[in-house]
Amino acid sequence: KTERKINELLEKMTLQEKIGQLTQISPSIFGAWNMDQIIQQLVDGQITVEEFEKMPRDYHENEIREGTVGSLGGITNAKKANELQRIAVEESRVGIPLLFGFDVIHGFRTIFPIPLAESCGWEPELAKKTAEIAAKEASAAGINWTFAPMVDIARDPRWGRVAEGAGEDTCLGSAMSAARVEGFQGDDLSNTDRVLACVKHYAAYGAVAGGRDYNTTDMSLQTLHEVYLPPFEAAAKAGSATFMCSFNDLNGVPCAANKYLMSDILRDKFGFKGLVVSDANSIAECVMHGHAKDDKEASLNSLLAGVEVDMSHGTYRESLPALVSEGTLQQKDLDEAVRRVLRVKFMLGLFEKPYRTDEEKEANTLLAAEHVELAREASRRSIVLLKNENNTLPLCKNVQKIAVVGPLADNKADMLGSWAGCGKQEDAVSVLEGIKAVINKNTEVIYAKGCGIIDDDTGGLGQAVYAAEQSDIVIAVVGESAEMSGEAGSRIDLVLPGKQEELLRELKKTGKPLVVVLINGRPLSIPWVKENASVILEAWQLGVQSGNAIADVLFGDYNPSGKLTVTFPYSVGQVPVYYNHPMTGRPAGKIRFSSKYIDGPTEPLYPFGYGLSYTTFKYENLSINPSEASVDGVITAEVDITNTGSIFGEEVVQLYVCDLVASRVRPVKELKGFKKIALKPGETQKVRFEVDASSLGFYNENMNYIVEPGEFKICVGPNSTEGLEGVLRIL
Ligand code: IFM
Repeated sequence: KTERKINELLEKMTLQEKIGQLTQISPSIFGAWNMDQIIQQLVDGQITVEEFEKMPRDYHENEIREGTVGSLGGITNAKKANELQRIAVEESRVGIPLLFGFDVIHGFRTIFPIPLAESCGWEPELAKKTAEIAAKEASAAGINWTFAPMVDIARDPRWGRVAEGAGEDTCLGSAMSAARVEGFQGDDLSNTDRVLACVKHYAAYGAVAGGRDYNTTDMSLQTLHEVYLPPFEAAAKAGSATFMCSFNDLNGVPCAANKYLMSDILRDKFGFKGLVVSDANSIAECVMHGHAKDDKEASLNSLLAGVEVDMSHGTYRESLPALVSEGTLQQKDLDEAVRRVLRVKFMLGLFEKPYRTDEEKEANTLLAAEHVELAREASRRSIVLLKNENNTLPLCKNVQKIAVVGPLADNKADMLGSWAGCGKQEDAVSVLEGIKAVINKNTEVIYAKGCGIIDDDTGGLGQAVYAAEQSDIVIAVVGESAEMSGEAGSRIDLVLPGKQEELLRELKKTGKPLVVVLINGRPLSIPWVKENASVILEAWQLGVQSGNAIADVLFGDYNPSGKLTVTFPYSVGQVPVYYNHPMTGRPAGKIRFSSKYIDGPTEPLYPFGYGLSYTTFKYENLSINPSEASVDGVITAEVDITNTGSIFGEEVVQLYVCDLVASRVRPVKELKGFKKIALKPGETQKVRFEVDASSLGFYNENMNYIVEPGEFKICVGPNSTEGLEGVLRIL
């Protein structure tokens, strides 16, 4: 029935209207198609910020009325969305409703932890819930399409967008990917609390050379298919209605024009039926890549490769008319692209119900109490305890004097992280506020900023040291500003920026226990801190409930249960450093001629999967059944875990596999399963994993997926470097 309606629409549409459906636009300044030129003028100082802010915005009502725009980005309130939708539905000739897209990456108004942080909870079900709430808020504000989840595997912490994904592992990344798609979309997109998901960035964007954003990716097809594509496949299987192609080229072909990725893999192999949108200007950038001679050629390549919607730069709009009229682009190819756009509009039920919200719904939904409560829960579950010397944590709420210092202690804006939707800093709880809210009345808090995040000013160090000297314990909140990660947030180094390490060194000299709380969007290399702090609490950027969640953990109202989903390098020079690297012929050893550095450690600072608790867990009795299985068999691995401490705690139990001998060099280990369990003191639980033997294979030299018979090492443990080992034989 839908297909019939789509055909009827196609028959009615002019060429211009068809191309309109493939065109996405964002509000701009009058006279400009997008903001780029104006922003350039701002950067060049030709206009001031005040002038820029006063310039009236063009919502492109005329283009909507003419039917030459099919979707809008950057509309974030119900009133405006409904106003524009009314023009599309009532005033345009064919009356096709609009899509409203926006980057709802970790919450819309209620900002949740950045996805990297959330992944450290190892709880796909929780990620599904936060995505569901993000969808609810976004849709109440008129949005029906989120440009999320970002499912890029990221093995290079210099890359700023590591903050937006689930870290370096494919198994966890795939589970998170599917969960977030399900959370955004639910099982019925006509439900007005849901939005279209858009899985991005397809593909291998997380592997850009040097960790430099927009850079090139060159990788073997085996690595692409084994490591980088599975989270995309998981998203497609979970029903993601849309995909976004990435900025980078992959093995010499820009992803925006990559037929292999979009047609051969996404459509033919993964069975994806939805639409693909370009990243902003990535079609035209094929010219800068030197892959197309002009916008026209770029448009032709992208459309034929499988990119239906051109995001914000009008390249299709300018080029497709001539390509069709001169016969270079066939009408049927254009129609097929339009069909895919119309299909998702039907999936959303937009033709029956174009107005999915109103201002009252919006006001009642954004920042609702239960959303904020979920944000606190998701935030505390994202925190990773990296060091806790002499059980310094949890702190006693009756401690007499606490120094709370550091540039991120009394800070709200940076708690939200990058891509914080429509989050407002005034909604956020700072760490200082969070601490003050939980301590007893007679406890004194002495605050000093100490230094800035990135500047070199050491003027405030004295006050911070003075605060520490007056106190029983020092909590130093340090790290990165929100803008240091996210898009175009690549870093050349991974140290604490500015004078923050100097601040910590001065604080250490006071002899007071030093609790370091890290606020950051990527792994940091902080060997001095590891050596010298009493405590390291990796809190990432947790969103609106940052301060409360951090205080919950500091004072023991929540026992930390997060584990790292990215490796922390000892030094930037180790990058790329990730746990599942291929086996080398000369593993690092004492002898010189082994795979190591002569001027620093080979081992990372903290491994993948690592994280402590206020209690302890004992792993015993690993059993693997059957110990011999056929390639289509299922293997069960069981292990007993006991909470050997004195308080309730949760543990992320991880199962790794290594194919010991294979015709292609295999990783030293690969995560194949994980479970988060909760145990009372003294309680034992049997944890059971089921592993399909078919998941233990790889792509051979001819790109055929095979599972080779032989011995596999199974390891079940608390992180990627410890655990109980067993052997499995595949027959
Ligand atoms: O969705 C984003 C993408 O991740 C990076 N470029 C801009 C897009 C739209 O804001």
